[in-house]
Amino acid sequence: MLIVGCSHGTHLAKSIAKKLNKKYHELEVTKFPDSELKLRFNTPIKGKYVILVQSFYENINDCVVETLFAAETARDLGAKEVILVAPYFPYLRQDKRFNPGECISLRTIAKNIDEDFDKVIIIDPHLHREKTLEHIFRIKSKKLTANPLIVEYIKKNIKNPVIIGPDWESYKWAQKVAEEIGCDFAIMEKKRYSARKVEVKLHKKIDLNGKNLIFIDDMISTGNTLLRAIAALNKIGAKKVTCFAVHGILVENALEKLKKAGATVITTNTIPNKTAKIDVSNLIAESLK
Ligand code: R5P
Repeated sequence: MLIVGCSHGTHLAKSIAKKLNKKYHELEVTKFPDSELKLRFNTPIKGKYVILVQSFYENINDCVVETLFAAETARDLGAKEVILVAPYFPYLRQDKRFNPGECISLRTIAKNIDEDFDKVIIIDPHLHREKTLEHIFRIKSKKLTANPLIVEYIKKNIKNPVIIGPDWESYKWAQKVAEEIGCDFAIMEKKRYSARKVEVKLHKKIDLNGKNLIFIDDMISTGNTLLRAIAALNKIGAKKVTCFAVHGILVENALEKLKKAGATVITTNTIPNKTAKIDVSNLIAESLK
């Protein structure tokens, strides 16, 4: 088995290899002056199970192209199987034609992944209209969840929690974690007007007295969902809150805005950043055994 770190997966690939007692390999990725990508495996591939570890953040589209190039090359060089470990997998929210003429981006991405890989492993994929990974990919797939790690972190660090999911889709994280801890929870209702404009309301009465308020969602992108949710709960007396997410995409100064709103942000390291306090490398390593 070859554990290969692609450009945006090196932070996890190194510790996955260590946990599995395997040598770590890095994909050599360079760019031509006109920004075309060039990549190279610096180790023999023939007959090997090649695990490509790639997360998709910052320049997502370059990451996609690089990953497809790497898989195709591994196959061409004689790999026995090519497996994608995607701690954060993109484009899952673009799973339908919301407006006439739009591209269903997920379909195109999935078609190419099916073509080049034998298996895909994803942590907490954003499955909404598509219920399972089997509905998206034709190749073998495995869904991992960081929920037990979030539960462990909360149990260790936060007393008397009450958990809020900022929209109904977040129940898979907020409700599941609350049930595991055995604490109160509520799921808010979100109306999305655009990529940056949302309204969030709480319909259930919750007792915040002496409680530590925690929001949990699968991802934080612009932070607007959580900023609106925090504003709604400020009105009923919430002061200090902690926001948990599996994937800290954190674009457009999301972290600074959330801090300004009085929130502490904790994420896993599917995407490496300042908030990544929960390590998923063991979760991935176990899934490869
Ligand atoms: C959407 O359904 C997701 O679960 C997140 O709530 C959303 O993508 C977060 O995006 P943002 O931080 O930009 O509001």
